[in-house]
Amino acid sequence: MTTKTATRVMQAGTDAAAAAARCLAAGGLVAFPTETVYGLGADASNSRAIARLYEAKGRPSFNPLIAHVTSPAAARRLALFDAAAERLAAAFWPGPLTLVLPKAKNCAVAALATAGLDSIAMRVPDSPVAQAILAAFGGPIVAPSANRSGHVSPTAAAHVLNDLGGRVDLIVDGGPTLVGVESTIVSCVGDPVLLRPGGLPREAIEAVLGRPLMEPPARDAGPVAPGMLASHYATAARLRLDANDVRDGEALLAFGPKLPPGAGEAAAALNLSATGDLTEAAANLFAHLRTLDRPGVAGIAVMPIPHAGLGEAINDRLARAAAPRGA
Ligand code: TXA
Ligand code: MG
Repeated sequence: MTTKTATRVMQAGTDAAAAAARCLAAGGLVAFPTETVYGLGADASNSRAIARLYEAKGRPSFNPLIAHVTSPAAARRLALFDAAAERLAAAFWPGPLTLVLPKAKNCAVAALATAGLDSIAMRVPDSPVAQAILAAFGGPIVAPSANRSGHVSPTAAAHVLNDLGGRVDLIVDGGPTLVGVESTIVSCVGDPVLLRPGGLPREAIEAVLGRPLMEPPARDAGPVAPGMLASHYATAARLRLDANDVRDGEALLAFGPKLPPGAGEAAAALNLSATGDLTEAAANLFAHLRTLDRPGVAGIAVMPIPHAGLGEAINDRLARAAAPRGA
């Protein structure tokens, strides 16, 4: 069953926030920018809207969603914070950090959105456009990244239209997103665990906690570590990571000022950051992958990218995009 719908695109602003709130209240699907990537929002308390959201994304329904709220106070109505969670929320919210927490007793978020788990992923986004929509709506909004399941996350409204045009009701265009990779996810159900590296570097989190984050359970542990599907961020063209040359028919995804042999003959070439800046590289990552991933490109040679800071999230997304299909 695929529901066809007319997709409206509005520039971010007061009118768009009001229209988004009305649409969400009526059970509609609204794509909007956050500081990380564009999200596809639905009323967190409306199971039918959430079912439509899964359908629009083509997402396996065991994959739970992040609930977005305006403030830590709003998050405390839905989830239980221990001391570590309080410290992280105080240090990093609003911002690109998602906390997985035990669900509060009277949590208003539909069980479908949390895939029946007794934990919930919470996030307070730092984007003024997202904040305006949350304030106008007046309740939690569940929002996965606004791409078809298995595609790279959208960092511009045009990416959303490409993936989800005809499947969502409204796209709020707030321009390109600043961070460019998804939020870092830390579970605070027990000792803090890094579930997904992302827009907030691990080092910053560990500095606030005063101890290292634990590693997530193994990939094959099933839906306890959801969202960790190996090929989650697939491109059609094969990626060749840590490439020190560009081979016949390949495009080049470069990093830094010094290009490898063969760069001049690349089918196409884009640089994540010519100066070797990891923040700039994260912001460009998904848009550059989309641009290079086109018919006629046999593969994409990706230059080595350092693992420190935001490099951890960038390398994680690249490894997933390069993983064998069907994994
Ligand atoms: O930056 C972001 O986080 C973006 C923007 C739109 O906020 N959202 C995003 O959502 O990346 P999504 O659905 O693409 O990824 C959310 C991840 C998934 O891997 C999901 O499995 C995990 O969060 N997750 C959600 N609830 C969870 C829970 N209770 N326990 C463990 N993981 C959870
Ligand atoms: Mg996603």
